[in-house]
Amino acid sequence: MDVLGSGAEATIFRDGESVIKRRLVKRYRHPVLDEELRRSRTRREAKLLQKARVPHPALIATDRESSITMEFIEGTPLKQLLDSDVNLAQRVGQHVAALHDQAIIHGDLTTSNMLLSKGEVVLIDFGLSFTSHDLEHKAVDIHLFKQALESKHHAVFDEAYKAFLKGYRASPEATKVLKRLSIVEKRGRNKAKY
Ligand SMILES: Nc1ncnc2c1ncn2[C@@H]1O[C@H](COP(=O)(O)OP(=O)(O)O)[C@@H](O)[C@H]1O
Ligand SMILES: [Mg+2]
Repeated sequence: MDVLGSGAEATIFRDGESVIKRRLVKRYRHPVLDEELRRSRTRREAKLLQKARVPHPALIATDRESSITMEFIEGTPLKQLLDSDVNLAQRVGQHVAALHDQAIIHGDLTTSNMLLSKGEVVLIDFGLSFTSHDLEHKAVDIHLFKQALESKHHAVFDEAYKAFLKGYRASPEATKVLKRLSIVEKRGRNKAKY
């Protein structure tokens, strides 16, 4: 089995056409809390991998404790592609709009968590996702993506963010969410003064 990644939370292996995401025991956490966190995050990610109406890896199996087996997506992270094809961000915007319209907050919108596969943008890593109808949660989801664009795709930031917004406006709630985003951003700037 090839190790695809080992983040702070989980180790990700490839086994043929499957990917296994296993959440690791964290010794610095209280064992009861640690088990509960792994279980709740695993269940939430598995649930959203079935529910989300955007392209994502199919859920194959889960032990509902710490492991998820999902479809392997043959593709390239947008992190490597966006600088030379900013219009991919428009597709990202459409997908995020569709998630938000379903009251799903991704929680970790970075271009490492998006793969281009057969010409389509596929969203992965629902490990920090949750369901919410709140404008605030949707605005923060976008704010985090915007920050990721600024730091990882600085040279194309303006164009890429514009393309993202073009896609995101597919959501009937887009105007309200973007208004909330400007409030979130003002708050951030004020905080920075202190
Ligand atoms: N279903 C998948 N198909 C192909 N690659 C995947 C898949 N899931 C994860 N990966 C690869 O493994 C990396 C880490 O997985 P991810 O779910 O993002 O976990 P982490 O919480 O460590 O960020 C991803 O950035 C991606 O490159
Ligand atoms: Mg990730």
